[in-house]
Amino acid sequence: MTGTMRTASTASATRQQMLKTLLTGITLQCAVASAGAQSLNYDYEFFKARVEPIFLQKRAGHTRCVVCHAERSNNAFRLEKLPAGGRWTEEQSRRNYEMASRLVVPGEPDSSLLLLQPLAPEAGGNPYHSGGRQFETKDDPQWKILAEWVAGKAAREGRAY
Ligand code: HEC
Repeated sequence: MTGTMRTASTASATRQQMLKTLLTGITLQCAVASAGAQSLNYDYEFFKARVEPIFLQKRAGHTRCVVCHAERSNNAFRLEKLPAGGRWTEEQSRRNYEMASRLVVPGEPDSSLLLLQPLAPEAGGNPYHSGGRQFETKDDPQWKILAEWVAGKAAREGRAY
């Protein structure tokens, strides 16, 4: 009688231990998943706060990126149509982010079309851009922001490159 009880309680202790292990595993997986989501957001937040405004800004002697690269754009750099208020909605910013992300190589600003097409050829940019040499050198503060975004992108997204 006593022996049977002990066996039963040992079995339940084992079950409890298994359950605990299982729960710990699930908790860990959730923690990893939410950490990933957070860093993805951070990369997007950086884009929205620092990168996206560059597409709206007027550079002396140049047309703003958004003028050629929204509805009129027939190439890969295609921004959302700017609403009358002059500000993209959250949903539009997310789509701009997805689109721009496809034109860069995370961690490699010097291989990223988004940075090379509007950069002067003498500074290492692509030979021709209908939108002109929007950035004369890589020292241009706005070009540097684009480069910063691309350079830190992989890390912020939590991807291992
Ligand atoms: C006057 C219009 C105009 C302006 C302003 C302009 N672009 Fe462009 N851009 C074009 C056209 C047209 C193309 C198509 C290829 C070409 O002729 O360069 C292009 C191509 C590109 C491409 C390559 C897309 C592809 O499919 O290969 C990128 C990236 C780009 N532009 C970025 C920019 C950025 C960033 C700005 C602002 C800093 C900007 N452009 C301003 C007209 C413009």
